[in-house]
Amino acid sequence: MYTPERERELIELSKRLLGEPDRIKRADKEEARRYASILREVINYHDYKYYVQASPVVSDYEYDLLFKALKDIESRYPELITPDSPTQRVASEISGEFPTVRHYAPMLSLDNTYTEEELRDFDRRVRELVGLDEIEYSVEPKYDGAGIALVYRNDLFTRGATRGDGETGEDITPNLRTVRTIPLKADFSEFGIELIEIRGEVLINKEEFRKMNQERLDEGLPPFANPRNAAAGSIRLQNPKEVAKRRLEAVVYQVSYVEPESKHPPTHYESIKLLHELGFKTPFKDMKLCKGIEEVIDYCRQWESVREDYPYELDGMVVKVNNKEFYEVLGFTSHHPRWAIAFKFKPKQATTKLLKVVFQVGRVGTITPVGKLEPVQIGGVVVSSVSLFNEDFIKEKDIRVGDTVLIERAGEVIPYVVEVIKEARDGDEAPIEFPKNCPSCGSKLVKLPGEAAYRCINIACPAQVVLRLKHWGSREAMDIRGLGESTAKALYEKGLARDVGDLYYLKPLDLLKLPNFAEKSANNLYEAIQNSKNRGLDRVLYGLGIRYVGHTTAKKLSESVRDIWELAEMPAERLADIEGIGEIVANSIKEFFLREENLEVIRKLERAGVKLSRDVVKGEEPLKGMVFVFTGALECCSRERAGEIVESLGGLFSNSVSKKTTYLVVGKEPGRTKLSRAEQLGVKVITEEEFINMVSKYVDIEKEKRESGPGRLF
Ligand code: IVH
Repeated sequence: MYTPERERELIELSKRLLGEPDRIKRADKEEARRYASILREVINYHDYKYYVQASPVVSDYEYDLLFKALKDIESRYPELITPDSPTQRVASEISGEFPTVRHYAPMLSLDNTYTEEELRDFDRRVRELVGLDEIEYSVEPKYDGAGIALVYRNDLFTRGATRGDGETGEDITPNLRTVRTIPLKADFSEFGIELIEIRGEVLINKEEFRKMNQERLDEGLPPFANPRNAAAGSIRLQNPKEVAKRRLEAVVYQVSYVEPESKHPPTHYESIKLLHELGFKTPFKDMKLCKGIEEVIDYCRQWESVREDYPYELDGMVVKVNNKEFYEVLGFTSHHPRWAIAFKFKPKQATTKLLKVVFQVGRVGTITPVGKLEPVQIGGVVVSSVSLFNEDFIKEKDIRVGDTVLIERAGEVIPYVVEVIKEARDGDEAPIEFPKNCPSCGSKLVKLPGEAAYRCINIACPAQVVLRLKHWGSREAMDIRGLGESTAKALYEKGLARDVGDLYYLKPLDLLKLPNFAEKSANNLYEAIQNSKNRGLDRVLYGLGIRYVGHTTAKKLSESVRDIWELAEMPAERLADIEGIGEIVANSIKEFFLREENLEVIRKLERAGVKLSRDVVKGEEPLKGMVFVFTGALECCSRERAGEIVESLGGLFSNSVSKKTTYLVVGKEPGRTKLSRAEQLGVKVITEEEFINMVSKYVDIEKEKRESGPGRLF
C-alpha cells in the first residue's frame, strides 16, 4: 500500500526518470545501481496502479520507457539483476513436466452449502465448539478460478504451486512469475515474517475471457467452457511465454502458514489487510466482518444479486471465522476446515435434451454444428441453442441427437456442452450426420488436412458475404452502429452491397430501400458508415476478416507496415518474421492478398477515402508526455477523432483540465468551466488552428475532412 505522499513522490520520480534517458544510458556502475533500484520501485508502483487498482497514472508508453531503461541497465550490468526485478517476470523458457512440491500446510477444500438453513447449522456447531453466543465472521467472495499456493521467503516470491492432491502440488513458479498481480517481492520482513505461504486463485476477468474465446474461435480453436477452465489450463502451459500472453490475474485470500508462527496475524481480517497493504490483489474491499450468522446471510444475498455485474466469475461467498485463535478447537475433517464454509450461489449449469442439430456457415466458410435444445433456464437466462464447434468436439464428447446434455453458461458467454449424461440414454439417440454441401449456397464442402472443420470455399457464398459485412461493422472492427446482421442481410438481398467496399458508396436514398428504414435511420447509418473511415489500419485489417487474424494480430501487423499495400506485397517469410505471427497465419494473410477479388475490395475502400495507412511511423511520438483537453465544437473533425490523433502521436487525451494538462484546445463556443480552470492553473490555451499545425506533419486532417464527404443529404 502506498500513502498519498509516497504516491506523489513516486510519480515525481517517474517524471524525473523519464526526463533523464541519456543520463541513465551513460551511468557508471554505481549510478546505474542507484537508477536500477529507483526504477524497480517506480515500476512496481505502476504495476500496482495498473493491475491491482486498475487506475494507471502513466501512459503505457511511459511505462514501457521506464521498463526499457531498467532492462538496458541490466543488460549492461547483468550483475545488477535481482531476482525480484520486474524484468524477471519475463517468462523463462522451460519444457517438460512440472516438478511436485509439498505444501507447507495441506490445501484442504471447503465445506459448502446452498441453503440458509445449513449456514445456521454451521454457525450452531461453531458456537458450541467455541463456547460463545455470537461469532464474528469474515465474509468474502468465492472466486471461481484455479487454486494456487504462493511462498515468500525473506520477502521474495520463491515458489508457486497448484493445489494438486492437497498435500503436494505442481511447481509452476515460472508461470506464476508472469502474473502481474503476484508481487515478486513483498515486505513481509517489516512484520517479522521470514516465510509465509498464501492461498489464492488465478483468475481471468470476464471481459478478457470473452476476448480470449473470440480470438480462439477466430483462430479455429475450441473455446474454453468458462473462465475457470481457461485459468486452470493457462497456468499449466509448458511455455511461460504463452502464459504471459493470457492476461491472468491472481487474488489471494488466505494465509496458511507463517514462520515464525508467533507472527501469524491473529485474525483473518488482519491477514487480508496485511496482504492488501503489501500490494497483493485481495478481497479486502469486498469482504465484511459480520456479527452473527444473520448478518452473514444478508451480506451473501446482497452479493448474489450483483454477481453478474462483478468482473470475475463468482460461485458463492466464503464465510470464515475471523478469530484464528478458534481454529485449533474447531479443527479439520480430512476434507475441510470446520472454521469456514462456502455459501454457493445457484449453479450456472443445467441438463436438457438435444433436439436436433443445424449447420451454420461462418464468416470464413467454416461450418459449425449448432445444437437446438429443449429450452432451459440457466442463471436467469433461457438457453435454447448451443454451439457444438466441430466434428472433433462431437466425437470427443460422443454427442448424439436425443441425448440429455449438461449445459453450462458461465462468464456471460455462449452456452457450452460440458458432458453427455450417458445414463439417460434409451437407445433412440442418433449420431450427428455432417452435410456434404453448404447449407447456404449448396457448393461442395471440403475438409482441409489438419483442420477440424468442414468449410465452404465459395467466396461469393451469401451467408459468408452477409457475415463479412456484419463483422466489418462490429464494435472492434469499424464500429458502424446500425450495421447488424439483419441490416447486412438486407443490404445483400437488395443488391446494395456485395462486399465491404460497397458500403462507402451508399447514399441515404439507397438505404431507404431497406425494410424498416426511414429518413432518420437511413441518415444515421449513412453517417455511421462515413464516420468509420478513419478508424485506423489495425481495425481495417481486423475488419477484413482474414482467417486467423484476430484484433491482437491485426494490431501487430498494422504496427509493422506503413500501409496496407506494403502488407499485401510482403512475402510469407517476412510476415512470419513479425513477432507473434506464425507460419499458418502468415500463409493465410498471403492467401488473402493473392486473391484479386480481395484486392479489388481494398481499392474500392481506398477510392472511398478509408484510411489504409498508419498515422505515424513506429517509435515517432511527437506529442509524448503531453496531455490535451478539448473544449467547444471543432471544425476539423469530431472530438473523438482529435483524441485518436493525439493518442496515435503518443500524447494523452483527457476530458477535464487539471494540473497535468499541457494544452487546452479551444473550438467554437467553448465551455466556460474548462477555460477558467485552465486560466487558474496556468494551462496553455491554443486555438484549433494551432492544434492542426502541430499535428499536420503527421496527419492530414484537411484531407480527411474533404474525404469524409458531405453531411446529411436530407
Ligand atoms: S479459503 C481451507 N477463500 O474454493 C480454506 N477459498 O471450493 C482455504 N476459493 O480450494 C480456502 N475463493 O480454491 C477460500 N475467498 C476464498 C476462495 C476460496 C475461492 C476456492 C479455493 C478452494 C475452493 C473450495
